[in-house]
Amino acid sequence: MPIADPINQLAERFAAAIKTAFPEVGDDAQTLIAASRQPEKGDFQSNAAMPLAKRLGMKPRDVAAKIVAAADLSGLAEPLTDESIAGPGFINIRLDAGALADMLGSMDTADLGLPPAEEPTTVVVDVCGVNLAKQMHVGHLRATVIGDTIARIHERLGHTVKRQSHVGDWGLPIAMVTAKLLSLEDAGALPDPLTLDDLNRLYKQAQAECKGEGRALAFITKHGGNAKLTAELESINAEADEYLSKAKSTLVALQGGDQRVHAMWRRLYDITMEACLAQCARLHTMITDDDSAGESTYATELAGVVDDLLARGVAEESDGAVVVRIEGLAEPCLIRKSDGGFLYATTDMAAIRRRVQQLGADQVIYCVDARQSLHFKQVFAAATMAGYATKPGMADPARLEHAAFGTILGEDNRPFKTRSGETVKLVDLLDEAVARAGGALEGRTHGLSPAEQATVAEAIGIAAIKYADLSNDRVKDYVFSYDRMVAFEGNTGPYLLYALVRIKSLFAKAEREGIAFDASAVIRLDAPEEINLALELLRYGKAVAAAAESSEPHRLCAYLYDLCTAYSSFYDKCHVLNADTESTRASRMRLCDLTGRVLADGLATLGMPTVERM
Ligand code: ARG
Repeated sequence: MPIADPINQLAERFAAAIKTAFPEVGDDAQTLIAASRQPEKGDFQSNAAMPLAKRLGMKPRDVAAKIVAAADLSGLAEPLTDESIAGPGFINIRLDAGALADMLGSMDTADLGLPPAEEPTTVVVDVCGVNLAKQMHVGHLRATVIGDTIARIHERLGHTVKRQSHVGDWGLPIAMVTAKLLSLEDAGALPDPLTLDDLNRLYKQAQAECKGEGRALAFITKHGGNAKLTAELESINAEADEYLSKAKSTLVALQGGDQRVHAMWRRLYDITMEACLAQCARLHTMITDDDSAGESTYATELAGVVDDLLARGVAEESDGAVVVRIEGLAEPCLIRKSDGGFLYATTDMAAIRRRVQQLGADQVIYCVDARQSLHFKQVFAAATMAGYATKPGMADPARLEHAAFGTILGEDNRPFKTRSGETVKLVDLLDEAVARAGGALEGRTHGLSPAEQATVAEAIGIAAIKYADLSNDRVKDYVFSYDRMVAFEGNTGPYLLYALVRIKSLFAKAEREGIAFDASAVIRLDAPEEINLALELLRYGKAVAAAAESSEPHRLCAYLYDLCTAYSSFYDKCHVLNADTESTRASRMRLCDLTGRVLADGLATLGMPTVERM
């Protein structure tokens, strides 16, 4: 927890005041301290009087008056008077500028008043989760970017974090494309070099071949039929059956460790993952090959999971299939099909067991599309019932959480697609954002070489995309707009990066003018903009903690944006290097320095690339 926090300190004083004024309520009265809704009347307010009045059967303003009379805020805030009471019984509080400056001084440490957790926990974050033979598309942006940021936030708080990418690398669809590749190889027709685009194309082709025209045939038969058409569809279907049984036998060979099949699968895996990890790196995330824990890595455990659950009565047979029934959910969790095949849920059961019992997770956070919410409800409940979510020797299960995210929409409010209606490839999306960032930089970056310009454009483009994704409420859908995200004004990535650049250039200018920075100068807060900036700075620790608690990076984004807005008003109103006196200049330089460090730390915690100039 943050050290220097005015709200906590005020809460202590108010708790004491309430105890003195109303000994009968004891320790459990809420102090309800919050940022003031009327900044001209105070910095904070306590809303304690209203619920207390109800409880005591008194008038709220009378309760407020008694709290005011009993409160001792010396050394922290200006003394309370009857004037402090407003409306139905709010108590307005104006912090003492000296106390505020002291708190700011105490957050001016290397960790910015946010020390590592005293009791670090282990957090597993499910990130990325691409599927083999498919290009990363816009949907993977969120699982990758938000997942990595959630991981970084917990790391910032000193917890042990393990990222896990649940790669879709197993099962019948993968066997279909593997079979396709093998038959092309037999025919000497395998593309060389084999690229992810080839795989993507062959994947779709294999899917179509195995699917056949069963529905079309049924339709035609139902409506009287047409001999020629029927014959044609029947022959397509017969072929599809063959493809499908080939794929099934390929799956069996793969599971049995057949060398040639496995080598082809491995090739598929390597090509996909090389491209995927390159994009993870380009997105400035800390997702590496070590974090890949694909479905294939659980393949040998699935039969054991089902047998174990059956043996212990957690699962039961139902029409030849095996299910786990969950209280309160109409749909049971299916873990084995009647043909003996395992499912997505079976693998996730094994994954929970590994994550909790081997990786030691106290908390597992799944950053996955909201459309999978029923799936996670089912597997969380089933795994908890099975004891897979509980560490050996512990009484309580780990905290399992679906950090669900919404869909990225196009300007037409429908899922974001290319003009021709195809899903947008992530590479294309990133390239476009970088190109637009380059355009927005035109004429701004004097004296940079073309290579340096390109580096800056890359950082800004990536920051723009990431920030747009992170700053929107995670569970909501949002409309993707290049123009909005690369703007240098407003709640955007480039705006925050630019604020940091401006602070850095202030210090560069100071150095050129021979003005030294004094890290121990006395901080004095006079102007309302200085006080407001100080109050924002002191909120940092809580903003990070709140983002961690709710797995909502947008809370940290909103905080950093507020901080930059407060800084910008301060910078507009208060001269820094040209301040009237040397002590004012030194004090303001400390405000600038602290703002720069909090902003840099916050941006790093979000996983944003930064630049020196823009
Ligand atoms: N591969 C999955 C998909 O594309 C995402 C994996 C999510 N993680 C998990 N443990 N199920 O939908």
